[in-house]
Amino acid sequence: MSKRRILVTSALPYANGELHLGYMLETIQTDIWVRFQKMMGNECHYVCADDAHGTPIMLKADEMGIEPETLIEQVKIRHQADLNDFYIDFSQFHSTHSEENREISELIYNRLNDSGYIKKRVISQAFDPEKEMFLPDRYIKGECPKCGADDQYGDNCEVCSATYSTTEIKNARSVISGATPIEKDSEHYFFDLPQFEQELKNWTKAGHLQEQVSNKLEEWFEQGLQQWDISRDKPYFGFKIPETEDKYFYVWLDAPIGYMASFKKLCDNSELNFEDFFNKDSDTELYHFIGKDIVYFHALFWPATLMGSNFRTPNAVFAHGFLSVNGEKMSKSRGTFINARTYLENLDPECLRYYYAYKLTAKIDDIDLNLQDFKKRVNSDLVGKVINIASRSASFVVKKYDKQLSANCIEKSLYDEFFEAGSDIAKHYEARNFSQAMRLIMKLADKANKYIDEKKPWQLAKIEGKEQEVHEITSLAINLFKVLMTYLKPVLPVMARRSEEFLNVDSLKWSDIQHPLTNHKINKFKPLMTRIEDDQIEQMVESSKA
Ligand code: 2FM
Ligand code: ZN
Repeated sequence: MSKRRILVTSALPYANGELHLGYMLETIQTDIWVRFQKMMGNECHYVCADDAHGTPIMLKADEMGIEPETLIEQVKIRHQADLNDFYIDFSQFHSTHSEENREISELIYNRLNDSGYIKKRVISQAFDPEKEMFLPDRYIKGECPKCGADDQYGDNCEVCSATYSTTEIKNARSVISGATPIEKDSEHYFFDLPQFEQELKNWTKAGHLQEQVSNKLEEWFEQGLQQWDISRDKPYFGFKIPETEDKYFYVWLDAPIGYMASFKKLCDNSELNFEDFFNKDSDTELYHFIGKDIVYFHALFWPATLMGSNFRTPNAVFAHGFLSVNGEKMSKSRGTFINARTYLENLDPECLRYYYAYKLTAKIDDIDLNLQDFKKRVNSDLVGKVINIASRSASFVVKKYDKQLSANCIEKSLYDEFFEAGSDIAKHYEARNFSQAMRLIMKLADKANKYIDEKKPWQLAKIEGKEQEVHEITSLAINLFKVLMTYLKPVLPVMARRSEEFLNVDSLKWSDIQHPLTNHKINKFKPLMTRIEDDQIEQMVESSKA
């Protein structure tokens, strides 16, 4: 099969806060898939960026007394450090507040406008007369018009679950200044989504979406598509709309364009050609990994934006479910709203990578990080099963046989079974059924341990004349370990690197597993990972409460 050319993205995190373990679920999922593609010999580029525009970022900078540009620069440094420390291997991590993004956003907008997809109309909205800005719903609070509860947001009541419009709320006040909002007119720019209804219906049914997602879209089509408001009035942190004085692109217009901009930046610094990946007739592949909360943007607005501006549409949008911790929504008071950095200060990133892989399927069901189960699973699977195969066999080969693996493979059928499982494991990786892949790998690990348990090389070693057999048994065990670490490499890149050192091979390659290593010198075994202890988890939860 010829080499596939693939471009992959994860959703862009907002540049006003720290990354948490929910976002890490997405980047770890994407990163595993990307690393797998590369191991299969495909060309695969993985881009992302900070989502730097919008009202919350502008207000946060305001509050801190700094320019939004300064805030987003500082946050980007921290985001990149977190992602890097979780071994997320981006080809490019950029920002939506970049020249590349400005250019492509303007280009796309101009093309949409020239083709008659942008409509203007005056709308009336809540306005803060003191701060002199229009107020998004979440910046208005007041009393619920239905049950009278105070301190409720502008569009819904958390006490009685009523939904309403900001004009209905009683004693409304601006969250920013405390002033009473007034109604004010302003002209807005709309993307005429209904013009794409048929094209979108075709697209959403053409295998680009998971079944659960396309069912959801059916509902949205039934409710009818609405024009999408893509403009915001000043003050706003974003890009000015061409040929306007004080209108800005709504953050969600230029955010997905940020995928293209980040890739453009990568192209500018390499031999890659932007058009190859975004031309309408491109034969490359484009995939977006996202959370299920932003499906509307990625499965409707985004493909329509691309269709209307004559770019290619994605091959697929892959949505995942939400992360819960210990069976509940992440909570600051319970210490389960865990930032990426807090995790890293207490635990090994590969433990989380493995646990997420163990839990991830291609569906959009929510995923629970149960901290006790996490500890047990990692300790039992990685330390107790996989690493154990190498650690209990290495000392024989190193001490008794001068680090040299035996000249022949004692039980080729067992080795072949490990090798042959690779095609199913690869299929599961490809289909994002990481959970199934991990289960197959752990079944093999059980088999390898059972083999060692049955052969009891530590007993044979005491019997004269059994030297060769012991050598061959332990050499086979190390070869089985090698196959398993090759399968686990997309999930555990650092443990794989340490294993490469131990096995004295350049790189664990999928294409190399058909034949065991024979007459090959290995290195001394060093611990590949340490067990998770309760106090590490307790400390992480305690720090998350602070
Ligand atoms: O929901 C969010 O966190 C957005 N910042 C995701 C943007 S993804 C893409 F469209 F840019
Ligand atoms: Zn209410």
